[in-house]
Formats: sequence, C-alpha cells, structure tokens
Amino acid sequence: MHGHELIIKNKELFKNLKGKSLLEIGTERGCGSTILLAEMAEEIGMDFITVDVDEEQTKNVIKPLNKINSAFKTITEYGEIFLKNFKGEIGLIYLDAFDFWHDNHSQERIDAYKKRGTEITNENCWKMHYNCAVELVKLMKEGTYICFDDVLSKEPEWEGKGKLAIPYLLNNGFNIKIYEPNCIILERCIKK
Ligand SMILES: C[S@@+](CC[C@H](N)C(=O)[O-])C[C@H]1O[C@@H](n2cnc3c(N)ncnc32)[C@H](O)[C@@H]1O
Repeated sequence: MHGHELIIKNKELFKNLKGKSLLEIGTERGCGSTILLAEMAEEIGMDFITVDVDEEQTKNVIKPLNKINSAFKTITEYGEIFLKNFKGEIGLIYLDAFDFWHDNHSQERIDAYKKRGTEITNENCWKMHYNCAVELVKLMKEGTYICFDDVLSKEPEWEGKGKLAIPYLLNNGFNIKIYEPNCIILERCIKK
C-alpha cells in the first residue's frame, strides 16, 4: 500500500484537523497522491500544499489542484528547506520525496538528481527524510500526524525512506499510530 492510500483509508482520524495544513513532500508521479490528498483536504477543510524540488512535477498538478481549491499551492523547493521556513500549522504531512535506490530508475530520473548535484542513493534518501524529521519535531504539535511511504521493513531496521527519520521521531515525541506494509502513520504525542 502507498502512504496516501493509508491516509485516505483512515480519513476519519484527520477530521479534527480542520483549519490546519495538509502538506505533501514529493508531488505526484503516477500514483495520484497529490489530487487524492487535496480532495481529502478540501472535504475536511484543511489547507493543502504540495512541494517537490523538480518543477516538472509541480507544474503538472497546478491546474487540477486549482480546480479543487484555488488557494491550494504547489511549491518548487527542497522539502527540507521548505519545512525549515514553514510558518503555518501542520495537521498532517505526507513524506514521499528523495527516491531510495532500486534498479528501475529511468536514466532521465538519475540525470535529474545529478543536475541538482546529488545522486540517488539510499544514504542520501535517508538523510533527506531525516532532515525533514528534524524540522518536524520543532514544528508539530500534539495530535498531528506524519505519514511515510516506502517503509520497506518494520522495526528495528526501518529500511526505506524512514530508516533514520522514524527512529529519530520515535525518540522525540512521536508514536506509531498505524503501520501497514510499506507505509506508516506516526502521531505527535508529547505536548510542545
Ligand atoms: C516517489 S516520488 C513522489 C511520488 C508521489 N508522492 C506519488 O505518490 O505519486 C519522489 C519525488 O521526490 C522528489 N524529490 C527528490 N528530492 C527531493 C527533495 N529534497 N525535496 C523535495 N522533493 C524531492 C522527486 O522529484 C520526486 O518527484
């Protein structure tokens, strides 16, 4: 299951997040996450922002997103930098950004990372999501949620995108709310 599917399956959990932001780091690339999450945000009354470092990704969703709600935003930026500067109130964030390594990446995708001065490696993927987690510990309040995609194995390894980020979050005021193979939702439990 993908993270955005886990979020939508558990929509009831997020009903009290009205007025807060639903953020997506890693804009839709064929799985439909952005539009499905934006529709859920609209239904609940949340603000919605999708962030991706690759302009090709963000520009594809501008029109369909505007149709759902003209106030919903697409931002072309590094997710970790966006979060460092974010001043709003996060209700729920979906982290599905820097790719982990597998053999099916297209040359075009590999080159896109190279152009940004980086490379698709597991270590870079883990670090990027860890950097996001460091900002989220500072930003998020009790009763708010983080969802990770591509959680390739459960504890203690946490292989996949959350390899460094998930243990850090669990040591810094987040608990596991829901786990299903390949994705997880964590909840902020300690008052800030
Ligand atoms: C797995 S895709 C996102 C898929 C999407 N959530 C979906 O379900 O269709 C990963 C995305 O992360 C983006 N990305 C890579 N590094 C990033 C970074 N540092 N900040 C933000 N986005 C990044 C890539 O451009 C790519 O579009």
